[in-house]
Amino acid sequence: MTTPDLPLVEGAQLALISGSAVEELQVLLERCEDFEILVTGHPPGPYAAQALLTDAPPDHPLRDKFVIGAWTDHGLTAAVELLRDFPERHVWYLGLLLVAPEDRGQRLGERILAAVKTWIISQDGRAVRLIVQDQNPAALRFWLAHGFVPIGTATQELMDRTNTVTRLELKP
Ligand SMILES: CC(C)(COP(=O)(O)OP(=O)(O)OC[C@H]1O[C@@H](n2cnc3c(N)ncnc32)[C@H](O)[C@@H]1OP(=O)(O)O)[C@@H](O)C(=O)NCCC(=O)NCCS
Repeated sequence: MTTPDLPLVEGAQLALISGSAVEELQVLLERCEDFEILVTGHPPGPYAAQALLTDAPPDHPLRDKFVIGAWTDHGLTAAVELLRDFPERHVWYLGLLLVAPEDRGQRLGERILAAVKTWIISQDGRAVRLIVQDQNPAALRFWLAHGFVPIGTATQELMDRTNTVTRLELKP
């Protein structure tokens, strides 16, 4: 399947993040350590960006995984992780949406989400799913404000903790 161009976003340039930007991505993840600590209890490790670019669920081809970066005047300012056709055809899984702390609350996340939705629809995506941890109510507010609806709860087993999460879905 060919990958269409990413839509334009006001105030940011979207592009797929490849291995050549792994160091920039690592810097962004470290700037967003608040989120990693909230979810896992630990700051990101030294290979977090590498893992984000290359980790995929078992049997899910890497060609169906995308890490999109948003570059602003402040450099790489936000990132989105997406899996195409996961866990089933026409469903996209949004693994991560991260905006650098000093750029939050200025509708960058909203503009990126709108662009990502357009891009997913252009590839015949019919639903977007994600999870949000109970300890992240601000993110839950963000998703609910943008049309996601709760479809259940689950537990997320991490190395040394278990999170309770809400599963959300958007039918664009
Ligand atoms: C959630 C996130 C992606 C939203 O992007 P954003 O650019 O800050 O959001 P926008 O400016 O478009 O929208 C603001 C809304 O986002 C939500 N929000 C979540 N975290 C926020 C934060 N730290 N600062 C400001 N708004 C935040 C609020 O609902 C806010 O709406 P409100 O002002 O009515 O309360 C971003 O805040 C972020 O990266 N947070 C940390 C990582 C995270 O939790 N990601 C979601 C994983 S499930």
